[in-house]
Amino acid sequence: MSKNPMILDHPLVQHKVSHLRDRNTGTKEFKELVSEIAMLLCYEATRDLPTEEVEIETPVAIAKTRVLSGRKLALVPILRAGLGMVDGMLTLLPAAKVGHIGLYRNEETLEPVEYYCKLPSDIAERDVMVLDPMLATGGSAVDAITQIKKRGAKSIKFLAIIAAPEGLERLHTAHPDVDIYVAALDEKLNENGYIIPGLGDAGDRIFGTK
Ligand code: PRP
Ligand code: URA
Repeated sequence: MSKNPMILDHPLVQHKVSHLRDRNTGTKEFKELVSEIAMLLCYEATRDLPTEEVEIETPVAIAKTRVLSGRKLALVPILRAGLGMVDGMLTLLPAAKVGHIGLYRNEETLEPVEYYCKLPSDIAERDVMVLDPMLATGGSAVDAITQIKKRGAKSIKFLAIIAAPEGLERLHTAHPDVDIYVAALDEKLNENGYIIPGLGDAGDRIFGTK
């Protein structure tokens, strides 16, 4: 990847992120937007997947053309909010396996607390994409990636919708080998660890819990 982090500047992404931020966007539309933005992030994050030449018989001739050369992929959403990105990713990568890591932030320390981890048994052989709409302090992303590396994975990317500079810095320092893809880079964190201007609590907005 030429830039790390890669901040998507595509007009479609910017348009969709703007609607996502709007406090008047309801749960149904919010969920759809998260899924669509995940699909666009997926498109960018898979740009370096290897391909091989094949011959395909069209109705009129033989075409020498290219297909994906069978790299095994895994998606790992960080619960809860990362779940909102899975369908969009699987639309483009239907053969990917899906693992789950459950983390929540302690509201006082802002440090992640792990409550669940179930990954594909062959995660070490897969290219892994970790999914979470929000990269705030970076604690959750760093912890999730540490867990995934402990199980042997070597090729890991992190995909988020909105990042704070503090989170990007922490993630890049802890895991400099991980390529980071974000749809928007915001200004800062507030005293409660929320991204400013951000979009509020992604998990609550996806699942309608507030
Ligand atoms: C949110 C978000 C990230 C985390 C980011 O999850 O989805 O996982 O906060 O913050 P950090 O970069 O400071 O770690 P939250 O803890 O609110 O849990 P939820 O997804 O279950 O709502
Ligand atoms: N988690 C969220 O859902 N939103 C933020 O702004 C920060 C962490």
